[in-house]
Order: sequence, then structure tokens, then C-alpha cells
Amino acid sequence: MEKVLLPEKIIDEGLQLLKGKAEVVILNDITEQAIINEVHDAFAIILRSRAKITRKIIEAAPRLKVISRTGAGYDNIDVEAATQHGVMVCNLPGINSLPVAEHTIALMLALMKQLPKMDSYVRNKQWYKRNELIAEEVAGKTVGIVGFGKIGREVLVRCKALGMNILAYDPYIDKQQFNGDSIRFCDSLDEIFSKADVVTLHVPNIPETRGMVTKQLIYLMKPTAYIINTSRGEVIDQDALVEALKERRIAGAALDVFHKEPLESDDPLLELDNVILTPHVAALTKESGVKMAVEAVKQVIDCLEGRIPKYIVNRRELNLE
Ligand code: 3PG
Repeated sequence: MEKVLLPEKIIDEGLQLLKGKAEVVILNDITEQAIINEVHDAFAIILRSRAKITRKIIEAAPRLKVISRTGAGYDNIDVEAATQHGVMVCNLPGINSLPVAEHTIALMLALMKQLPKMDSYVRNKQWYKRNELIAEEVAGKTVGIVGFGKIGREVLVRCKALGMNILAYDPYIDKQQFNGDSIRFCDSLDEIFSKADVVTLHVPNIPETRGMVTKQLIYLMKPTAYIINTSRGEVIDQDALVEALKERRIAGAALDVFHKEPLESDDPLLELDNVILTPHVAALTKESGVKMAVEAVKQVIDCLEGRIPKYIVNRRELNLE
């Protein structure tokens, strides 16, 4: 039986499908060396978001045919190295757009309704503070959606239902298709950052987006505005964001993703009272966890049984069309 290597465990429903079809090795260790030690005879890797599949790992894996991601982003794979070694890189576009959009809305409401602070007041017997910290209304506010792909569009639907005005920025899409959708497309990031009450990021981690949210952009935001990041930590200049939050140049932030995950115990973000932090779980719901595991495994089974999987990132480069 071929070997399928998992640096991190996936949900059982996915693993069940591999029973009798492959030898499954779960590492629960995401270090490069641990993966190298096990990859030499692996046919496939099933990959969550934390482990990185580097060139060194791919070069240590002469039998490797496929790396199958449980999500849409594949920024933790050296795709160029995979292509050079004839390894398919599979992902699952759109699989978790809905949970990420829902998490984004949950964060936005938690920020604007001040939920973490309200909760702590009650627990700390500070009921009287109910008149000090006042929630604000979402309806009538302007959301700026940066990145208008599958997730951005799910966020749009929910923000519209909440009665928000919509600004969007995405230089890569055809805006004509949204005519009549009451969306105002901005021509620049400057415009969206300076006008929105809530900026929310839904872009992939690619060279063009790394560090895209600069200090200068953050400082263009209104002092009453919030920023939400459920995409990838690398997109924001995190030090500049911390400074802006400390100096109260913006009202707050909600972050699901960070430069370094998990956050170090001395990370300055942990000291701030105007930021809500979640541990990279926007995509992970009871429902999507099963879907991600099952679909990522199915793409590997396709390869094991000689079929070409549906979502191959390097399809063209590998001449699989
Ligand atoms: C992602 O960020 O790509 C998704 O959350 C999937 O990641 P996970 O499998 O590590 O939760």
C-alpha cells in the first residue's frame, strides 16, 4: 500500500476513507526535519495550514505524487519545487468561504458591540460600566472589502443583510459583473482605507499582497475604524498595526491570523484591549472541518486510483490539461 503522510491530523471522517487504501502516517509534528524523516517513501502528503512543505522536503521525497491541501490557500507549499519534481499540488477553492465569511461577521459584530469587554464587566462585577462603553450600530456603516473573491463575496452578502454600505477593492476581477449590486469599487487601497468604517481583508498570501497593509495605509484609517484579518498574517505590517492600536489611531482590530502562529507568549498584541484574537480558526467549523478532510482525502484517492483530481494548482505547468 502507498504511504500517505499527514504532518497534522485531520478529522476522522477523512481518515476513514483511506482505510484499506493506503498506509496512513500521522506525524503531529510540523517541523521540516520530522517531515523529511518520514517523506522518503510517501506517495502523498495531506496538508493543513501550519506545516510548510519546502523544497528540501520535496527533494527528500522521490516517490511523492501529490500534496493535497485541506483549504484554498497553498502559500505553505513551495509550488515551484513541486512542479519541478512533477508533484501535483491540490487545493480546495471555495471549500471554506462560508465559514470564513461568518467568522468575519462574528468578529465585526464582536468589535462593534464590544462583546469581550461587556462579558468581562459582568464577570468582574462591573455591571455599572454599562453606561461607559457603548456599542455601535452596524447598519448604515461602511465596510471596505479588500479582495473580492469567493470569501469577499460571501462577506458582501452578509454585510448587505446587515444594512451596511459596501466598498470593495480588487484589481484582479471584472467589475462589470457587479453592475447594479450597490457596490462601490475603489481604485486604490488608499481610498478604501480612508473611507471605510470597517476594513476586512480577503486576499491570498502572494508576493503582491505580502506587507500590502502598510503603516501608511493603517494611518489613513479613521480613528473610529476597525480592521479585520481572516486571510493571512503576512498581509499586514503587524508592528505598525500594534503601534496604531496602542496609540488609538484606530478603534480596534480583530485578527485570526498572525505573522507567527501560534502567537509568542510575549507578543504585544496580547497586551492590547482594543483587539480581538482568535487562533486561526475562521475556516474551521464542525461542518467545514469534515468537508475539508473528506475532500482533501478524495483528491489523494483519485491519484491512488489513477484519476486526475479536480483542483490542481499546477495543472498547466504539469501538462495535465
Ligand atoms: C486555511 O487557513 O487554509 C484553512 O483554515 C485550513 O487550515 P487548517 O486545516 O489548518 O485549519
